[in-house]
Amino acid sequence: MHENGTIFIADNDVKTRDLVSAFLTYLGYNVAVSDGKTPFFDILRKNNVDILIADLMYLQFIAPDFNDCFSLVNPQLVLIGYGDPGVSEIKKDPDIPLFTLSKPLNLDELESLVMRAREHQSMKMYDRTSKKSALHHLLSATMIGSSPPMRALFDMISKVATSNATVLIQGESGTGKELAARAIHQLSDRHGKNFVPVNCAAIPDELLESELFGHVKGSFTGAFANRIGRFEMADNGTLFLDEIGDMKANLQVKMLRVLQNREFEPVGASKSQKVDVRIIAATNKNLEELVVTNDFREDLYYRLSVIPITIPPLRERREDIPLLIHTFLTRFNADKRNAVKGFSREALSILGNYEWPGNVRELENLVERLVILKGSGIIAPDDLPEKYLSGKVPCQAPVYIPRLSPDNLLPEEGICLNSAVDEFENNLIIQALARSGGNKKEAAILLNLKRTTLIEKLKKKNLAFIED
Ligand SMILES: Nc1ncnc2c1ncn2[C@@H]1O[C@H](COP(=O)(O)OP(=O)(O)OP(=O)(O)O)[C@@H](O)[C@H]1O
Ligand SMILES: [Mg+2]
Repeated sequence: MHENGTIFIADNDVKTRDLVSAFLTYLGYNVAVSDGKTPFFDILRKNNVDILIADLMYLQFIAPDFNDCFSLVNPQLVLIGYGDPGVSEIKKDPDIPLFTLSKPLNLDELESLVMRAREHQSMKMYDRTSKKSALHHLLSATMIGSSPPMRALFDMISKVATSNATVLIQGESGTGKELAARAIHQLSDRHGKNFVPVNCAAIPDELLESELFGHVKGSFTGAFANRIGRFEMADNGTLFLDEIGDMKANLQVKMLRVLQNREFEPVGASKSQKVDVRIIAATNKNLEELVVTNDFREDLYYRLSVIPITIPPLRERREDIPLLIHTFLTRFNADKRNAVKGFSREALSILGNYEWPGNVRELENLVERLVILKGSGIIAPDDLPEKYLSGKVPCQAPVYIPRLSPDNLLPEEGICLNSAVDEFENNLIIQALARSGGNKKEAAILLNLKRTTLIEKLKKKNLAFIED
């Protein structure tokens, strides 16, 4: 028997129906036909039908609302249709995958179409799985964090990624704005195309226009040849306008026009050009305040902030600090072939209470520096630069306990149970250690485990980043 769902044959011509049914059964497929009583869409649903072979005239008769209900039946459903007329009626919805077959039916042709339909389904499945694993990759490997604000951020990113809407990412320096922008691009349908970053603050004002829109030869001194701009490079992809708050007024006007019409003129060109670009902008300035002081155009602000995303500073999600330290420590140990074993409880507690004005970037740089300077052993408070020591207080990091709500635990697209359970277990262990200030005995009590069991788990999971 073949894997997958059932093939349903809808034809009022009993001879054809029985022939097709016998043939496909002989080939080993799961086949169903109507019992004449059960409503059409119920049969499709109950039998987990994923291929529908139908006489199109008959289909219109028994299911006039087929177009509307198609994707609700089974997202994998493919229609193999035959008989004229009717194709145009059924094909009103361009999303319906339809393979057509001529009449009288040729059984070889039918067999190859069923195989093509299955291929089509596995490709769709592959797309969905790769999207899911991309999301998983983002959550577990790229953007570290399990605090409530980070979870909300991940949800937001996965939702907006599938749309084409302009996104404005705000947040202090080093919070991960560019990382978030790249994640949105990676999870969008544009991921195969360019992600083009432009740092509006780093390019001199007089060059920024040509950098963005390109120029034609001779349009200004130094324009020796035609040059395409970042907008054109990002065609069909994503343009990341970083530090948008630093853009000067004259360019803001031009930017507004591109956002409105997806049309721009290269410097010195007489004709405008069309582009299909998704725009993500970022700034660590407060754009609303800049609007009030007339330093940023209000209309442009509204155009940009169709979907506003704010990344919270690290000091407002201190419970992410141990996980970030662990990640960076593992990464830099591997990069530099060093073997720093971990942080002492006191050192960890000091870092947990620090204000982190430079946010994740500052933490990342600190861990890199400590791994280089220390090389091996355990990082103690004495190893930390002076500025981290001034606020030496015991760790009072709030601890995030994930709330298990059985209703929304399983994402729509499914989940990899093993890695989800593993991640959940890691989070609980890390939180228990954070709460106990790194004391494994206390953490084991919190987790209702033997100390030795916890230590074994830490070793197995390579989570031994806090040393007693
Ligand atoms: N949640 C996170 N998990 C892992 N690494 C992170 C996270 N957030 C930021 N980083 C790392 O911190 C550094 C700074 O991130 P990024 O450049 O995205 O910040 P930014 O908000 O754009 O900063 P700036 O405003 O200074 O441009 C990068 O090396 C990035 O990989
Ligand atoms: Mg940045």
